[in-house]
Amino acid sequence: MERIPLSIVGSGGMGTRHMFGLAELEKNGLNPFDLVAVCDVDPARAELLADAAAGLLGRRPTTCADLEAAQKLGTVAVDITTVPRFHHTLAAEAIALGLDVMVEKPVGLTIAAAHSLKTAIAGSDRVLSVAENFRRDPTNRLVKALIDGGVLGEPRYFHQSSGGGGNLMAISMWRHLKDESGILFDAGTHYTDMMEYYLGPASSVYAQMRLFEKVRYNLAATGGAPASNPGGVYGQSQAAMPAEFTATADDALFAMVNFASGAIGQYAENRAEHGRSSWARSVHGSAGAVEIPKDRSGEPLILTLDGTHTYTGAEILPLVPGFALDDATAALFGGAQATAYGLDFETVDRLLLAIEYAEFGSCIRSRTKPEVGLEEGLRAIALCYAMMESGAAGGTIVTIDDVLNCTVGDYQLSINEAMAKQ
Ligand SMILES: NC(=O)c1ccc[n+]([C@@H]2O[C@H](COP(=O)([O-])OP(=O)(O)OC[C@H]3O[C@@H](n4cnc5c(N)ncnc54)[C@H](O)[C@@H]3O)[C@@H](O)[C@H]2O)c1
Repeated sequence: MERIPLSIVGSGGMGTRHMFGLAELEKNGLNPFDLVAVCDVDPARAELLADAAAGLLGRRPTTCADLEAAQKLGTVAVDITTVPRFHHTLAAEAIALGLDVMVEKPVGLTIAAAHSLKTAIAGSDRVLSVAENFRRDPTNRLVKALIDGGVLGEPRYFHQSSGGGGNLMAISMWRHLKDESGILFDAGTHYTDMMEYYLGPASSVYAQMRLFEKVRYNLAATGGAPASNPGGVYGQSQAAMPAEFTATADDALFAMVNFASGAIGQYAENRAEHGRSSWARSVHGSAGAVEIPKDRSGEPLILTLDGTHTYTGAEILPLVPGFALDDATAALFGGAQATAYGLDFETVDRLLLAIEYAEFGSCIRSRTKPEVGLEEGLRAIALCYAMMESGAAGGTIVTIDDVLNCTVGDYQLSINEAMAKQ
């Protein structure tokens, strides 16, 4: 089958990690794409990514600065991995050019941004996939099978709490700047996607939010080890960022979430934690509960039924006999009932990004809608902003519908104003 000419737009950390995903597909004879170009507003970054791709894909993509140049190089599909504030405008521009699009989460930096994309692409037959990778982890697929198969009984309660980071920079400076996407929004849109993936639509929330660490420190700028460098691809850009800067984005969020089903969720994300880094996620039902490891950790689930019977790892599989991963996941992870157990973060990360690409390629060829499209991406940011809007307002009850229709949106006003000036 002829390969689909593809460009990666945004050659930073995630652009590089996406290319690693393509390389996994290539290695396994599953790559539907031909990476013809890599783009970035910073030419040096595009050159670095092109060099890395040449080594892994056997062909050096051409470097370029924008979508029109990429199209002239034969591109018919783009993968947008820029900083969040350009996602909606670049996706709209790409679709206007007739290109199929995969865009990293968040689908828009604000609800208004995502709505403007929706308006711009209304009536188009182009594919728009939002690259949400966490739900594709085989471990999360298994959790979903446990819930949908009734193994937990009636789902009643979702819990997630995580903490870490202290006063150190999380990956990059923009993750601490409100107008660029703070860390609560950057990480939170993954987690809100997971909440609705597991438990269906959320209806309302209330929350408290804080900016605890008003100054953040970047150890990489002074030759130290970076506090966070997922995939090992951020070192060079972190070294060029300031050693110390003022944070404008909140860094801790504590929320309660009501789901339309009647289930309730409790969510705590403390990115200013000075104790041990922590993680807990679980879903509790009328028959049992499942403890879920951190996404991409390769650690096993722990399921307890009726308070006594505990199953871990592959012991869970007989309880969900119909559980079957999609073809690409099965091929990459080693079988239709495979798990990610025992794999390290970098491997799981690459394989999940490979699965995103496999699905994008298959949607382009069959002209079908991807699992996470504009609507799902929009709901994920709406639930995240609902918590943040509530937190910013001191804990009022905020409905997801009011955030989606922009009746509630004070927290996002300054972000929209900043984007309008660019
Ligand atoms: N799914 C995940 O697990 C995951 C992980 C990390 C990041 N992300 C997402 O990926 C996106 C990128 O994050 P990152 O960590 O790679 O950031 P980054 O800062 O490392 O890279 C962003 C790149 O975009 C480039 N860029 C900015 N504006 C551009 C434009 N208009 N046209 C072309 N290039 C432009 C920058 O020069 C930079 O090279 C974010 O939306 C982030 O939320 C997702």
